[in-house]
Amino acid sequence: MNIVEIENLNAGYGTGQVLFDVSLEIEEGEVVSLLGRNGAGKSTMMRCVAGAKPPHIQSGTVRVNGEDITDLATHKRTSKGIGYVPEERRVWPGLTISENIRMAINNTSDPMSLDEVLSYFPRLQELEDKAARNLSGGEQQMLAIGRALASNPDVMLMDEPSEGLAPYIVRDVEQVIRQLNEEEGLTIFLVEQNVVMAMDVSDRHYFLDQGEIVDEMTPGKLQENPEIRQRYLSV
Ligand SMILES: Nc1ncnc2c1ncn2[C@@H]1O[C@H](COP(=O)(O)OP(=O)(O)OP(=O)(O)O)[C@@H](O)[C@H]1O
Ligand SMILES: [Mg+2]
Repeated sequence: MNIVEIENLNAGYGTGQVLFDVSLEIEEGEVVSLLGRNGAGKSTMMRCVAGAKPPHIQSGTVRVNGEDITDLATHKRTSKGIGYVPEERRVWPGLTISENIRMAINNTSDPMSLDEVLSYFPRLQELEDKAARNLSGGEQQMLAIGRALASNPDVMLMDEPSEGLAPYIVRDVEQVIRQLNEEEGLTIFLVEQNVVMAMDVSDRHYFLDQGEIVDEMTPGKLQENPEIRQRYLSV
């Protein structure tokens, strides 16, 4: 079954179009990454599903769990099984780790418990009472993932979770993604510029170039075709 189905989506901001006739599907249990250069429209794509800072949808459909959510208000999307970790890692800086997660728990109808969320993040468990503003970039990213996880989503959208993190922390993020996918059966939709990381965790990649889906392939095929990286990713 497809958890996410995007069909012929045309979207942008104001009168400027960013996405052109985009279609893609993500099956239950898959880890799928959307790759592309800066400005290709990756975050815009993700916001069309998450409903955050919503782009203007000119035409097309976004379905999650079989339900058309194209025009659904942002605050109602969590209850449709969507978890979202935005590019800017939204955490409440003045609140502690556990307070941040509790806020997310209180905002949703069928949440995980605090202990269950923390069980995925041993480092956060140790720092439970520390204010979010005093955490490192990697710890804040874990907290942002934890907050999204608290609503017990079916699909987790993650916009460049590795951005600005040291390589050993990127490995921790990878590990969490794998664990959530394997243990929770969570479907994951990832935007990444770190191709190596995306290849390590994904079942499949889509390539977005100037707002159009130009290719779709497995990590194995991408590995064998380094020229594709140069064509679409400049890496
Ligand atoms: N809120 C906005 N209002 C107007 N234009 C926007 C807005 N957000 C993004 N854009 C424009 O839409 C285009 C696609 O941006 P988007 O952020 O989706 O790209 P991206 O692939 O996520 O890039 P990056 O890799 O840099 O994060 C860009 O030209 C950008 O300037
Ligand atoms: Mg982006």
